[in-house]
Amino acid sequence: KKVVLAYSGGLDTSAIIPWLKENYEGCEVVAFVANVGQDQQELVDVEKKALASGASSCFIVDLREEFVKDYVYPVLKTGALYEGTYLLGTSMARPIIAKAQVEVALKVGADALCHGATGKGNDQVRFETTYTALAPHLKVIAPWREWNLRSREALLNYLKERNIPTTASLEKIYSRDENAWHISTEGGVLESTWNAANADCWAWTVSPEEAPDKAELVTIGIKKGEVVSVNGKELSPYHCVSLLNQIGAKHGIGRVDIIENRLVGIKSRGCYETPGGTIMIEALRGLEQLVLDRDSFKWREQLGLEMSYVVYDGRWFAPYRRSLQAAAEVLAEDVTGEVIVKLYKGSATAIQKKSPNSLYNEEFATFGEDEVYDHSHAGGFIRLFSLSSRIRALNEEKKK
Ligand code: ARG
Ligand code: SIN
Repeated sequence: KKVVLAYSGGLDTSAIIPWLKENYEGCEVVAFVANVGQDQQELVDVEKKALASGASSCFIVDLREEFVKDYVYPVLKTGALYEGTYLLGTSMARPIIAKAQVEVALKVGADALCHGATGKGNDQVRFETTYTALAPHLKVIAPWREWNLRSREALLNYLKERNIPTTASLEKIYSRDENAWHISTEGGVLESTWNAANADCWAWTVSPEEAPDKAELVTIGIKKGEVVSVNGKELSPYHCVSLLNQIGAKHGIGRVDIIENRLVGIKSRGCYETPGGTIMIEALRGLEQLVLDRDSFKWREQLGLEMSYVVYDGRWFAPYRRSLQAAAEVLAEDVTGEVIVKLYKGSATAIQKKSPNSLYNEEFATFGEDEVYDHSHAGGFIRLFSLSSRIRALNEEKKK
């Protein structure tokens, strides 16, 4: 028996290692650590920690570029925002983590997969939906749905009784999830909806009040719906996001504080910080205004709405997701150009935009004479456009 565990080095997954060995007789635990751009300090000594907790080996896989290029950028093209505001940072990371975990499992010939998500959340669904889509033959173990360790204290005692060292402390106020795209904060004071988020709920960004009084302009270069450069410098997707995160955080950009509907039916409060992502979305939406015709724009909005649920619900490896994606890729073909985004005390605003594919034409928009538009044609258009209203009104008149 061999289990591959999605391991983070935190308290929960550290306790899972000995728990698995005790509850699944004689099983070997292989730790798998995904580097999706979380605090890189957490990766120092993570292998040592895993082995000290009883793992037989530890695989650390750098997924940072793949995460932004193949998960974040595609979703951005659809414009997906869950319940209007959440940029899906955690939701997009789960499928890539689970996929890389499955790859390790297949490589080491494991027969089970294990994760440390609780039984109340979305993450368990996302992990297990991916496992099922990619390796249906592997058994899934979700300790949080099996064990009766219900508090941090219980987990700490569990490790202490087994002489397993840990740097975790009793006090951990928030549940946080961090990657290259965002950091989420849940729990603690946020559990009451009548508590305003305070300064220590926010981890990456300064408050808009403390942001510089002087606005900063960033130039975003976009090719086929993907951000390829920042201030004229071409960078990889991951590096574009990282740089924009740094710039945006200083100006308090990308804070979202929402009550959301979890897939499992519970409402939860979350504070999300996605500074770079917020700037990217503003730039992309700015360019779309230039290049998408009315029907395409409306369709892109519908794709985004649909995609937000598919991604939130963890259906990444489903044909439905791929088909939405395919449609968004077509619309993104023309989304090429440059946008200047102004950052000022928490707001990011696209103030200048240009594209070789722009459908906007000053000559046509003007109220003066031009070649494509004859005012007199509008009369006929309106007559046909409103024909059904005319017929109805005439009928009503006859009835009188
Ligand atoms: N509520 C958000 C989501 O479902 C964030 C979840 C954060 N996960 C965590 N393990 N702290 O996408
Ligand atoms: C968890 O329960 O593991 C985190 C929250 C979530 O998945 O929504």
